[in-house]
Amino acid sequence: MISVTDLRKVYRQGNREVVALDGVTMDVPQGSIHGIIGHSGAGKSTLVRCLTLLDRPTSGSVALNGKDLTNVSDKELLTARRRIGMVFQHANLFDSRTTEENVAFPLELTGQSKEERAKKVQDLLRLTGLTDFAKAYPSQLSGGQRQRVGIARALAADPDVLLCDEPTSALDPRTTEEILDLIRSLRDRLNITVLVITHEMHVVKRICDSVSLLEGGKIVESGALSEVVSAGGRLSEAVLPLPGNAASIAEGPILELLYSGDQAYSPVISAITKTFGIDVNVLAGSIEELGTNKFAHLRLQLDPSTDVDAVLQFLTDRGISATVKGA
Ligand SMILES: Nc1ncnc2c1ncn2[C@@H]1O[C@H](COP(=O)(O)OP(=O)(O)OP(=O)(O)O)[C@@H](O)[C@H]1O
Ligand SMILES: [Mg+2]
Repeated sequence: MISVTDLRKVYRQGNREVVALDGVTMDVPQGSIHGIIGHSGAGKSTLVRCLTLLDRPTSGSVALNGKDLTNVSDKELLTARRRIGMVFQHANLFDSRTTEENVAFPLELTGQSKEERAKKVQDLLRLTGLTDFAKAYPSQLSGGQRQRVGIARALAADPDVLLCDEPTSALDPRTTEEILDLIRSLRDRLNITVLVITHEMHVVKRICDSVSLLEGGKIVESGALSEVVSAGGRLSEAVLPLPGNAASIAEGPILELLYSGDQAYSPVISAITKTFGIDVNVLAGSIEELGTNKFAHLRLQLDPSTDVDAVLQFLTDRGISATVKGA
């Protein structure tokens, strides 16, 4: 479990101050996968550095399993850091070491016997699907395989938390899916807490249980995927985007509907048509299954004669968020 409370980081550049983190607060429960999404300059890398205390926060606290890391001794910090495995965009492997030697590297510092280390490495290679590549050097591996080595190495010290900073940004779409699926299966098997920093929404959609939108050093939206979608804010638009407003031929009010869970299986359009005796035209739609939840985002145009307020009330009563986009 990671808890971040009111984290601030202010950099000084000459006599200018750059507020890179401006009061970030979040809790990531044990065993869950939390995504942090944000544009370039939002403060993502600063957050990673402050979480691991590689960079000292200006104020605020970072706690790992209830232990505040911001005021412990350097020695305790070193021990605590081993509880955090790091995965980066590029695996940064030792070119002169084989897969198993790269994975063994963090174990060499722990004082385990050679046999214990060898067994641990074999377990990690099996877990990450690398057994056949144990003796290969990084130059003999694909980008996806190298990233697997990086992940296996990050897990060597049995961390509680896996911190992934843009783990798939250098990979092609298919390899990206493979690596994301691997991260999720590792979470399922090891019950580790995973924090994924990314600028790509499909990463969040594929593996995250919850997500925060970081902007200008602040978390501006946050919650379980189903919550942020239902909230109808910017994350919701980003999770279930609709194509731009295609000019509609007909006249009449335009509604956007957002709903999830059981509601996503209900025949909303025919319910509106029957109840109000009006025609409904679907302008755009996006329906997706994310995790175990189903989400729908629809843009509808209603008959010009429609009593819009009555339709809005009808939808709200059914737990569907609806907004009028124009007439
Ligand atoms: N060491 C530093 N000294 C001064 N300013 C810094 C330093 N590190 C980061 N910043 C500033 O803090 C802000 C956040 O930077 P950060 O690297 O955390 O963004 P990011 O979200 O990781 O961006 P990207 O997606 O491009 O990697 C930026 O305005 C950046 O210029
Ligand atoms: Mg960055």
